[in-house]
Amino acid sequence: MVIEEIEKLLNEAGNKAGYKDNLAVSFSSIPELCDYQCNDAFSLAKKYGKNPFNIAQEIVDNIEKNDFFEFEVVRPAFINVKLTDKKLGQVANYCLSDEMGGVQKHKVSQRIVLDYGGANVAKSLHAGHLRSPIIGESLKRLYKFLGDEVIADVHLGDWGLQMGLTELQLYYDGVLDYYFKNKGGMPSITLEMLNEAYPKASARKDSDEEFKKEADTWTLKIQNKEEPYYEIYKKMREVSVKEIKRQYGELGATFDLWLGESDAEGYIDKAIKIIEDKGLAKISNDALVVEVAQEGENIPITNENGEVIRFKNPMPPAMLKKYNGASLYATTDIATILMRNETLGKIDRIEYITDQRQKMHFTQVFRVCKMAGISPENQQLLHMSYGTMNGKDGKPFKTRSGDTVKLDDIINLLIERASEKLKANNVEQSRETALMIGVAAMKFGDLSNSISKDYVFDLDRFLSFEGKTGPYLQYTTVRINSILNKIKESGWEGSNEFLISSIEERQIIKYILKLISAYEICYKEKSLNTLCTAVYELASNFSTFYNNHNVINEKDYKVKSSYVLLLKLVRKEIVNALYVLGIEIPKKM
Ligand code: ARG
Repeated sequence: MVIEEIEKLLNEAGNKAGYKDNLAVSFSSIPELCDYQCNDAFSLAKKYGKNPFNIAQEIVDNIEKNDFFEFEVVRPAFINVKLTDKKLGQVANYCLSDEMGGVQKHKVSQRIVLDYGGANVAKSLHAGHLRSPIIGESLKRLYKFLGDEVIADVHLGDWGLQMGLTELQLYYDGVLDYYFKNKGGMPSITLEMLNEAYPKASARKDSDEEFKKEADTWTLKIQNKEEPYYEIYKKMREVSVKEIKRQYGELGATFDLWLGESDAEGYIDKAIKIIEDKGLAKISNDALVVEVAQEGENIPITNENGEVIRFKNPMPPAMLKKYNGASLYATTDIATILMRNETLGKIDRIEYITDQRQKMHFTQVFRVCKMAGISPENQQLLHMSYGTMNGKDGKPFKTRSGDTVKLDDIINLLIERASEKLKANNVEQSRETALMIGVAAMKFGDLSNSISKDYVFDLDRFLSFEGKTGPYLQYTTVRINSILNKIKESGWEGSNEFLISSIEERQIIKYILKLISAYEICYKEKSLNTLCTAVYELASNFSTFYNNHNVINEKDYKVKSSYVLLLKLVRKEIVNALYVLGIEIPKKM
């Protein structure tokens, strides 16, 4: 809002001076000199063949006198803008009274399906499954905060080969004798059984072709809902989903829809019919496929006999049915898009959050849906891929022996290490608080990097109560809460007027303005790192303020009133930002 006000003043002045061009304002690149700047005099000078400094001066001379902004031209031809204390007070007042802390919702709201989480049923979650729920949850909160309507769907992987593999392994382990050999009582399938069966089967399939074929058959039987395969499948799914819900719950990831690949089953035939009717499908090596390569991709390169030897930029076809008629990952994703469009009303955008290795998969799926009209032309299909979480050695985070780290082990580690911190601070350690702090450390450590980049899981740094970390921001909030409580308990009541008079207060309001603008940047970039930096900078400026001013013992009534309002404002801004980042605030730490 402040930028728009300045731009309005500048443009009116420009008009008066005879320049009809649109003048734009940005945050100052040298905050010590000014708050905002306009660099457009340079381009005007080129256009009108005049001296840039004179143009800038001409514009500034035409600005209407006001109490809120100070304009100054500096060489070579920058227009520097400063906010007056009166303006800063006005901004502070507005942000404190506004529910969103001064952040504006979008005028046009989008309806978005956000597909994240995506845990695979029957397999246990590991380190590689951390980023999707963390990123997805906070993007969802950001979109909603800015006024979008978001439907979060966990889209469980529950219709693929891993189901057939696991069930087949259970069969070989004798767990399913009741169903297949009429022996013993009905078994209850436990998580431990699944955790043991899947890795065993997965390893065996790589060396045992027969076993793999058999697992293919079992998968197909499940997909065809043949009994008892389907009944057993449902039981495996149930135990596994219960566990996934618990783990996502600990990470604070919540979903509107707990659907999976299997829920699109009823739309597979219909989707394939649409694709076939458009003449897009063909049989290749007994499989049903759709060519999705576009110009420039998949260009065949032939030898002198005219035989194709390789392709340039290969974009392989999307596979809809395996040799045995079973559905694949692409099939359920295409059917899911059809289902979403038929059951969820108008959707402007579908966004998927997975790691980079799935880029090709989504390119294929999106192209098929667009070619077949399963996704309407004006619907955006987006794949947001994130980088890898690496260990300190720069390689994907693993245990010392080189195994993948279980998600539960990470959660326990976060709790354990956060507890140690609490102990060192002589604060009562509950699992709940430790989890809040550990998860905050993890999330902030993750989200403060650009989503597409790899980052290093450095728990010591993430968990520090000082510096650019989640716990530091939680700590700042807890501290403000405690100061405000003390003031409240002392029975002190202040006025409702901001009185900005010190450099530290000015800094705080300016950093709040920067924080407010960060939401929009994050929305455009679909990454939360700018918000992380902005909220950290605010907290750190607050610390400086608090070290230099004695809020509780301030004698001047007006000054103390304003300090208290400032504390409330800073708290509000941090709380909002942490909410968007998916970070909760403990009572004590
Ligand atoms: N289950 C998938 C995996 O673990 C992720 C699912 C992502 N969403 C989707 N609609 N394909 O790789």
